[in-house]
Amino acid sequence: MSVKIAPSILAADFARLGDEVRSVAEAGADLIHIDVMDGHFVPNITLGTAVVRDLRKETDLPFDCHLMISEPQRYIAGFLDAGANMISIHSEAEPHMHRALRLIQDGGALAGIALNPATACESIADAIDFCDFLLVMSVNPGFGGQKFIPHVVAKIRRLSAMIAERGRSIPIEVDGGIGTATVREVVLAGAEIVVAGTSVFGQQDRRSAIAAIRTAADTKSQSV
Ligand code: DX5
Ligand code: ZN
Repeated sequence: MSVKIAPSILAADFARLGDEVRSVAEAGADLIHIDVMDGHFVPNITLGTAVVRDLRKETDLPFDCHLMISEPQRYIAGFLDAGANMISIHSEAEPHMHRALRLIQDGGALAGIALNPATACESIADAIDFCDFLLVMSVNPGFGGQKFIPHVVAKIRRLSAMIAERGRSIPIEVDGGIGTATVREVVLAGAEIVVAGTSVFGQQDRRSAIAAIRTAADTKSQSV
């Protein structure tokens, strides 16, 4: 199966966001990854529902909203109304994960659990039964352009095994420091969706950037 590539608009030019989103949609992106930060759960502030709502007019690609915010339940309805197709919330920020995931699913979107690099896989074992995808952070959330944390590869393997053990087939999304040098190992470990901020928006030619990540991810002739 070919990996899905989700360019993160965090690395785009915020003064031209509509054009930027269209440029990666035309260049072969599968999803648009939207990083929402509140300056509380993470030490940075980005954007909210108004921006998502206005960007909705620019493309039909699914919007993958990654909420790096405290008390995420308060904002789920707003992101659903704005046109989110996937919403992930951090396990570290949400004590009532079952209810939060239900709210997302009842609103017609896919519900994901995001995990920081140091959060134990076992802490979300039961929640695997009622979410639609997992988002594994491969950097500490808050900023784009950080270095990939290799420790996370084993974690992706562990989560893949846990998903299989529980008889589920939900995808794992990996987020942070993904580019041609790192994509293969996360895909081999079980990732099916990769977020790519700097490695796509940091390049002039977005089509080549996305194609290069796809080629590097192709495990057919590379698997061990
Ligand atoms: C980090 C964000 C990521 C970020 C990835 O807090 O969640 O989605 O934009 O950026 P790169 O691909 O540049 O590491
Ligand atoms: Zn993200």
